Amino acid sequence: MNTVIELTVFICLYHRWFDWVYGKPDVMGTDYRIDPWSSQQSTDYQRLIQKFGLEPVDLSSIPGPSALHRRGIIFAHRDLDIILNSIKNKTNFGVLTGLMPSGKMHLGHSMVIEQVKWFQEHGGDVNVAVADLEALATRSKSLSEGRKTAMEEYIINYAALGLNPNSTNVYFQSKRPQVQRLAFTLGRKTNLSEFESIYGFQGETNLAHVQAPLIQAGDIMHPQLEEFGGLRPIVVPVGVDQDPHLRLTRGLASKTNWFNIKDRKKGGLNVALSIQDENAKVFGVSPNGSLMTESRNIIFDKIKSIISQLGFADIFPNPKHGTIEIPGATSKEKFVLRNELLKLERELGGMGLMPPCSTYHRFAVGMTGDKMSSSKPETTIFMDDSINEMSKKVKRAHSGGQATVEEHRRLGGDCSKDVAFQYLEFFFTTDDKELEEIRKDYENGRILAGEMKQICIDKATIWLNDLSEKRDEWSGRIDEFLSNDAF
Ligand code: TRP
Repeated sequence: MNTVIELTVFICLYHRWFDWVYGKPDVMGTDYRIDPWSSQQSTDYQRLIQKFGLEPVDLSSIPGPSALHRRGIIFAHRDLDIILNSIKNKTNFGVLTGLMPSGKMHLGHSMVIEQVKWFQEHGGDVNVAVADLEALATRSKSLSEGRKTAMEEYIINYAALGLNPNSTNVYFQSKRPQVQRLAFTLGRKTNLSEFESIYGFQGETNLAHVQAPLIQAGDIMHPQLEEFGGLRPIVVPVGVDQDPHLRLTRGLASKTNWFNIKDRKKGGLNVALSIQDENAKVFGVSPNGSLMTESRNIIFDKIKSIISQLGFADIFPNPKHGTIEIPGATSKEKFVLRNELLKLERELGGMGLMPPCSTYHRFAVGMTGDKMSSSKPETTIFMDDSINEMSKKVKRAHSGGQATVEEHRRLGGDCSKDVAFQYLEFFFTTDDKELEEIRKDYENGRILAGEMKQICIDKATIWLNDLSEKRDEWSGRIDEFLSNDAF
């Protein structure tokens, strides 16, 4: 009897410990996966940061932050500092985004474009992937339907939102062989087990669907090819649902790299050759695996000369092991060193790919209180909703007001639950002071829930009318955004 109790207690405690360490199972399952194609969405952002090793955004590091930065809506990133450095030093960087051409464009989609615009204004050149192959694979949209949707729903609105056609190139996945070739090539560096663990793909998963993430990796990496602008950092602003693709792509890029740079435990950096079929000969590895000292020394001389040009005299090469230690280098110098080694890799015939940088935004709540979705028109505002449709949706939206006016005056409203307020915050007002005043007045009961909705309707009216005017200005001219291979 006692052992049964002990065992029960043990199992309960074990479960608690397990939950504490690994987190409670939730929509993403015990192994906490993000499914980019699911209609579920996790909004536990702290947890996402921890679980997937994202970096929180440091607002003070961002020059001329946008409203989305200032309000903490862009909450995390990977390697954003590399892009911020390019901005500071006025060196080249690219921006890549992609759209799924199925369904209508709504407010939620506009957030990425706001970010793209910000990067563009800070010097980035922009590539926009129309994910027509992905829409075919995962949404059964034909390529021609995809094209129509992309142009009439998305690109026209991107133009209206203010992307600059002079540095924007819209292309179609199905029409850019370089993307497909890169996807295929990168596919050599992964396997089904990795796809199972990242995406949960299984035996019955359709093979076109399996290819979609590789094509997306091709999208993300191809701006670094010589014909699309060459070696430079690329930033991909996305919602967290797309992070699995970034994790995959970053992993693929680093697996192709011929030189690995690691921090040394005792300080400094360590460069190591990564021997692969493609480079075995140049790196002095003979077909039977033995070391060819002469070739190894040639490559080492090249690396040593790069390192000494960066100003480090104190280096410890070990050609036999294929490593070079640079005790004096700091992680700050890592980027420059990596850049030089990627250039060398390219000279020697390798791909020389830099892992992509990324930023992540929070999702705006759906108007009904749950997730925004094109397939549920009541959950969001479409870019071409009439003022009447928009007003109806705002009036019906989830509110943070109290049950009665008397109670509301006494207790105040709850902005964290109020859709109208949050839509002002996410979309319809860029003026921080005004927004703070509205927040205060709502929280201490001066503004009623209905009044909050009216403020939102008024601002949204201006926003939608402006957008529709700009769409008219661009109509018949959106070809200006298309790249040559899009026709
Ligand atoms: N998978 C993205 C979506 O579902 C579309 C996409 C394709 C994309 N390629 C991309 C997004 C590259 C960002 C970067 O919306």
